[in-house]
Amino acid sequence: MTRKVRKAVFPAAGLGTRFLPATKSMPKEMLPLVDKPLIQYGVEEAKHSGVQNIIIVTGRGKTAIEDHFDVSFELEHLLESRHKKDLLAIVRSVSDLIDVSYARQKEALGLGHAVLRAQALVGDEPFSVILSDDIIDSDTPCLRQLLDVYEFYSAPVLALMEVPKESISAYGVVDAEPVAHNGGRDRLYRIRNLVEKPKAADAPSNLAIIGRYVLTPDIFTSLETIPPGSGGEIQLTDGLKHLLRSRPIYGYKFEGKRYDAGDKQGFLQATVEFALKRHDLGANFLQYLKSLKL
Ligand code: UTP
Repeated sequence: MTRKVRKAVFPAAGLGTRFLPATKSMPKEMLPLVDKPLIQYGVEEAKHSGVQNIIIVTGRGKTAIEDHFDVSFELEHLLESRHKKDLLAIVRSVSDLIDVSYARQKEALGLGHAVLRAQALVGDEPFSVILSDDIIDSDTPCLRQLLDVYEFYSAPVLALMEVPKESISAYGVVDAEPVAHNGGRDRLYRIRNLVEKPKAADAPSNLAIIGRYVLTPDIFTSLETIPPGSGGEIQLTDGLKHLLRSRPIYGYKFEGKRYDAGDKQGFLQATVEFALKRHDLGANFLQYLKSLKL
């Protein structure tokens, strides 16, 4: 029987150099999209996908993440004494969201290395991984879409997206064959090979891996085995390539719109689109944008 995925790992120990100087003293994961930190979107996606436990892998200078998901007695007391009930509810809803535990990555030695740091808290069970700078707006949460595939095949599943050739070398890229699924052959793939950040000319396809994974615990053995790869880092893509020798891995072209909020351009696009969708801001913000007469 397929074991239920109860845990989601959030690697959040990267240096966030593309957002310096903002990330000099503040984690990238705490950058707000409108008024909510990036990582909270991911945590809410995990919760809405049926995950019960969150494991955040943090590094130096990341205490703001821990404080964000903790109870803030002083703030709650202040809001209560000022009768700010709505704000109090917002603050409490964050700490009440879900059970969160923390693992530490002392040095940013790569995404695969960060996932490996969560091994003791994950244990011997399947788990998911969410990179919170990939914001995915969809009717069915992206992680839920992957979990549906996992529950059918009992195999690791990666989120896939078609990307233009000019930007393919920023991603992990798969060589994959389509598989019939739910009456179509356009979303599910069986992975034949994976390569981290290939040159455009060497990319095996235009299918890039996006920051959502459902993994089985044997990935930890693979991550322990592989040498450092692209950028001198232990890459999750290389770990998956190693795992592919011993079990099938699937990729799923998810439904939804993805924003690369770890990059300035993607972050700005997400900010504008999320603000436009807000009931309390959208109409006024649209008027403002139109007034710019670009
Ligand atoms: P990125 O590739 O976006 O790297 O990591 P980064 O360091 O966060 O940002 P830049 O490129 O310097 O601007 C993808 C995800 O993997 C995590 C990051 O926190 C991010 O969520 N990560 C990366 C780690 O947790 N540890 C690492 O050693 C590397």
